[in-house]
Amino acid sequence: MGNAVLVTGGAGFIGSHLVDALLAQGHAVRVVDNFSTGSRDNLAHCLARISLLEGDVGDPDIALAACRDVEYVFHQAAIPSVPRSVKDPFSTQRAGEIATLRLLDACAAQGVKRIMYAASSSAYGDAPGLPRAETMPPAPMSPYAASKLACEYYVRAYAHCRGLDGVCLRYFNIFGPRQDPDSPYSAVIALFLKLMRQGQAPHIHGDGEQTRDFTYVVNVVHANLLAMRVRGPLNGQAINVGCGERSSLNALVAALNDALGTSLTPTYGPPRAGDVAHSLADISRARELLGYVPRVPFPEGIRRLAAACPI
Ligand SMILES: NC(=O)c1ccc[n+]([C@@H]2O[C@H](COP(=O)([O-])OP(=O)(O)OC[C@H]3O[C@@H](n4cnc5c(N)ncnc54)[C@H](O)[C@@H]3O)[C@@H](O)[C@H]2O)c1
Repeated sequence: MGNAVLVTGGAGFIGSHLVDALLAQGHAVRVVDNFSTGSRDNLAHCLARISLLEGDVGDPDIALAACRDVEYVFHQAAIPSVPRSVKDPFSTQRAGEIATLRLLDACAAQGVKRIMYAASSSAYGDAPGLPRAETMPPAPMSPYAASKLACEYYVRAYAHCRGLDGVCLRYFNIFGPRQDPDSPYSAVIALFLKLMRQGQAPHIHGDGEQTRDFTYVVNVVHANLLAMRVRGPLNGQAINVGCGERSSLNALVAALNDALGTSLTPTYGPPRAGDVAHSLADISRARELLGYVPRVPFPEGIRRLAAACPI
């Protein structure tokens, strides 16, 4: 039997893929989720093989129960939306800083060996300089980005003052099957895929030349598993997880048209508050410290997603 592990937010998009990979490697998997943005459906295929705790990580009793007898924690729970955080920063903070602090405290109390925190490339904001390296000063532009960054600082602080090892994996625009296309805050690829399958043109905020390091979910799962296995302490440091390549939204629409056999032209509107113009990961630290090499490049990820999500 592998290690006992906890996935917070395990009923969400990335969390549920992590659960699958951890089960495949023989780990005993516990999930804690309050189903605020996640869904039981994402775990329906493996409910019999995991222990599922329904509750809010921000509740101290839930956090303690979730961490009991666990060696490694993959902290995915959050409300992951820039526009939602602009509209309602307080719920972002509750699911972010408040819940993360409760979790860290519970991890320290229960002797967890390491926490892998789902940090975000949004921490870099629009500061000049591409690709983004972890040595660059952060410049959050939305309450969401500020919240993700604040949690990084707590992870680092707990590594230093409570002996809880941790690592902040800064995800760059993750996409893949099970990403919710139906929320008003859906991520761009899930939303565009759904619309374009229905023959509808996607709508782009801005001129479509903004770029992202779109990263297929297999890569971020891989990075998390590598981080769990690193031998020495990681001391709460930030590590980028992306592909190290960027595509514009116009290129994304072209790739989706290719994968779906459609020829839809996007509509355009004004840019959206809080969105950054360009994003690209420098993944050298991930390569050096974790041995991380992306497994699925963007075009292949789009093909796999289109094939995995029939209408
Ligand atoms: N998807 C991306 O591109 C991306 C990029 C950077 C960082 N991240 C981070 O990765 C993590 C996972 O993102 P996702 O895209 O899978 O989102 P998701 O919304 O699919 O998953 C989040 C999960 O956390 C749960 N949750 C939220 N608050 C909770 C709480 N207080 N207690 C218990 N459960 C709670 C939700 O119900 C959901 O199942 C998030 O922390 C997000 O900030 C995601």
